[in-house]
Formats: sequence, structure tokens, C-alpha cells
Amino acid sequence: MNFKKENILIVDDDIHVLELLKRHLQSMQYYTFKAVSVKEALSILKSNRIDLLITDIKMPDVDGFELMKYVSEHYPSMPILVISGYVSAKEALEMGKSGVIDYLVKPFTKDELKTSVSKSLSGPSQQHPREVTTTAYNFRELVGNSPALNQIKEIIHRVKDIKATVLIQGESGTGKELIARAVHYNGKFSRKPFIAVNCGAIPEDLLEAELFGYEKGAFTGANDTREGFFQAAEGGTIFLDEIGNASPKVQNSLLRVLQEKEVQKVGSQKSTKIDIRVIAATNSNLANAIKQGKFRQDLYYRLSVVEIMAPPLRERTEDIAPLAKLFLQKYAMEYKDRSMTIGSDTLEILERYNWPGNIRELENCIQRAVIMSDGEIGPKQLPDMFKFQINFPKDGIKSLAEKEKEYIQQVLDLVENNKTKAAEILGIDRKTLRAKVG
Ligand SMILES: Nc1ncnc2c1ncn2[C@@H]1O[C@H](COP(=O)(O)OP(=O)(O)OP(=O)(O)O)[C@@H](O)[C@H]1O
Ligand SMILES: [Mg+2]
Repeated sequence: MNFKKENILIVDDDIHVLELLKRHLQSMQYYTFKAVSVKEALSILKSNRIDLLITDIKMPDVDGFELMKYVSEHYPSMPILVISGYVSAKEALEMGKSGVIDYLVKPFTKDELKTSVSKSLSGPSQQHPREVTTTAYNFRELVGNSPALNQIKEIIHRVKDIKATVLIQGESGTGKELIARAVHYNGKFSRKPFIAVNCGAIPEDLLEAELFGYEKGAFTGANDTREGFFQAAEGGTIFLDEIGNASPKVQNSLLRVLQEKEVQKVGSQKSTKIDIRVIAATNSNLANAIKQGKFRQDLYYRLSVVEIMAPPLRERTEDIAPLAKLFLQKYAMEYKDRSMTIGSDTLEILERYNWPGNIRELENCIQRAVIMSDGEIGPKQLPDMFKFQINFPKDGIKSLAEKEKEYIQQVLDLVENNKTKAAEILGIDRKTLRAKVG
């Protein structure tokens, strides 16, 4: 089926309503996610890009209003459509405050649904289009219990409520952005914006205008005065991803912003004060870039008041199993509508692999395994490269000399330390044996 690009999350405790809505929406070519409770809805929201929320109001445990409140705070640009039995005036008023665009009273026809959905999707939304992401994350979402990750959680705890700059370094896919979000969303500025800017994705000549805004007429095409990412993040956090790719000109401007705490729009003579926390991330080696004269050392110092090193996954193998299980639940629910399991032998294979693409690679691997599997995930569902892996022991790969020593010791133990016998079995003379045992 050819789906439209919109993802719709439907939340209702009545599975018959859910099923019906799903069928209707799919026949309109929307992609759907279902949740029977607010709790389930939250976990779907955190790991998927949702374009429209359709929710019931009366649900056991946590009701639809709580969900609406959460969504309007954390995903302010997400439209909400309410489906409900009788709606009281008070409830209608509450809904208005939560940014609900439309509501449908049950029972409704397919045509009424269609009209409301397209109205909601084209309603007042998208406050921060462009490169901005507004997904929220919680601390508990940093899955893993390795000493390295726990140390990172400790740093997050210390910096979440202050505005010191944070520099996160690490290989691709190690969770740098998730760490940045955890700093923001766990702190007291979490209700203010978190604006993520990929410095590597914006064309170099536009980056300055995008970051700091511009005045009308500042350059060809600047038909209006416009705010930049820095102004949009006022009071909150700006996340400068791939900072290593910032041009010398942008580096100069950033240094100024950090020193003076004010920004100047492109083409303007006036500076304005800003109150903002800057978190930067890079997977390139900034120390090398500084040596090569490509990155300003003074800017590096300004950005790295607090430094976080996101270690590669192969250096925290304890985190592999919990992460694999997390992704397994996520994709099993998404693709198969149920939970799935993974065998301990398969987890061991995953733990032995060196994961050059880190957590993102692990996620892709599990995603694929879920698609390829009908029940438990076994070694068969892993990509081919795992099949050719030698079964290296968990404690790492040993050198020949180490292995030799180990073997000699085993033989010596077997013959109760009788060196003549051992030398005979090993096919070497006693002198060589003595030299090798050391
Ligand atoms: N500790 C964690 N717990 C759960 N999910 C994680 C964790 N760390 C990373 N992830 C997930 O792994 C993926 C990659 O993380 P993220 O995008 O933060 O990495 P990155 O370091 O910014 O990568 P890149 O350098 O490629 O941009 C994301 O889907 C993220 O949600
Ligand atoms: Mg990233």
C-alpha cells in the first residue's frame, strides 16, 4: 500500500474503536500507531515522529486530558483531534486550552472522520519548522547500566539546571543527541524550547543567517526580517550538532555570542541579549582540528565548560542486552502488534560484535531481526556478517603468547606439574618449557 507521509497516533481504551479507526485511517492512506492507554501512547510518542494525535478523553488510570497537556507542552506543534462520547462545555474549554483543533462525538461516520483529520493536519501548527525537533526525552530513556553510562547520568544530573556550556564528543550513533535532550528535558528549563541545529546540514553560507536571523535586505532573497535558531531557543537550549563543521566565520560569531551573551542578526548593527544554554556535539576529533588550525581553541574552551565523552558501544558491552531488548519491544509492538523475545545465545553473539555504528547500528539490526522473525529472535535472524564471526570468548581476544601460556598451564595441571611429562606431551624440551613458563 502506498502510505501518505503522515503518522497518526490513535489512543482509546476501547480496542474496537481503535481497530475501526485504524482501518478507516489506513484506507485513507495514513500510517497509524495504536495505544490502549496514555502510558503506551507516551512511549510511542517518544520514539516516533507523530504528525497527529487522535485521543479519547475518558480512559482508566490516566485520562486524555493529561495526555493532551503533556503533548501541548512537549510537542507544541502537534495537532490533536479528540474523539469522545458526550463532551461537556467545561471539557470543551479545557480542550481549547490544550490546542485541540477539532473534536468528534462518537459515533461518527468515516466521512466526518476524514474531514476532521484533514482539518487537524492543516490546522495552526508548525511553530518551528526547518531543522527543529521538539521530541521530549526522559532520563529513564537513557537505557543501560554500565559504569560509563552511569557516570554520564551523574554529569547530566549536575548540569541540568545550570546554563554552563556542554560539549558532547563521541563516535557516530553513540547517543550524543539523546544525552543533550536528557540534559534539557530533565532540568528546570525543560518547558522552554530545545532547538537542535545540525551545523553540518545547513549550507555554509546560510548557517549564520539560520543561527542568528537576518534583517530584511541583508542579502539577496532576504525579503523579511527573520529570527534565527538562537532567538527561537530563548530561555531554553540550543543544540549545535556537528559543531566541527562550523565555518571560521560562524566560529567567530559563536565565540561572540558565548562571550557577550548577545546575538546580532545578519545585516543588523544592533545586538540583543539572549539567555540560553548551549550544548554542542561532534564526532570529529576537535583536538586534531585545533592542531590543524581548523577549529578555534578559544571557542573550544568556551564550549567545553563541561565535557561528556559518549563511549562507543563496544566499550560498554553491559549495555548491549538492555538496549537490544528495548529496541525489540519497540519494533515488535510497531510491526507485529505484540511483544517478542530474544534468546540468551543471540544476545551473547550481539555482545561479541564490535558495533562500529554503535547504538544506531544495534537498533537497525534488531529492527531487521523483528521483520525477519515470526517468534523468538535467534541467530538466524541476524545479518550475515554475524554468521561468519568466530566465537571469540567474552573476555576479549587473546594473543598467541597468552593462549600458549594458558595451554601450557593446563597441561602442567594435568600432569601435576611434572615438567618432563609436560615437555613430552607438548613436544618441546624441558629448557624451552622452563623459558616459556617464565
Ligand atoms: N542510552 C540509550 N538508550 C536508549 N536509546 C539510545 C541510547 N543511546 C542512544 N540511543 C538511540 O540510538 C540512536 C542514536 O542516538 P543519537 O542520535 O543520540 O546518536 P548520535 O551520537 O547523535 O549519532 P550521530 O553522531 O550519528 O548523530 C537514537 O535512536 C537514540 O534514541
Ligand atoms: Mg546526532
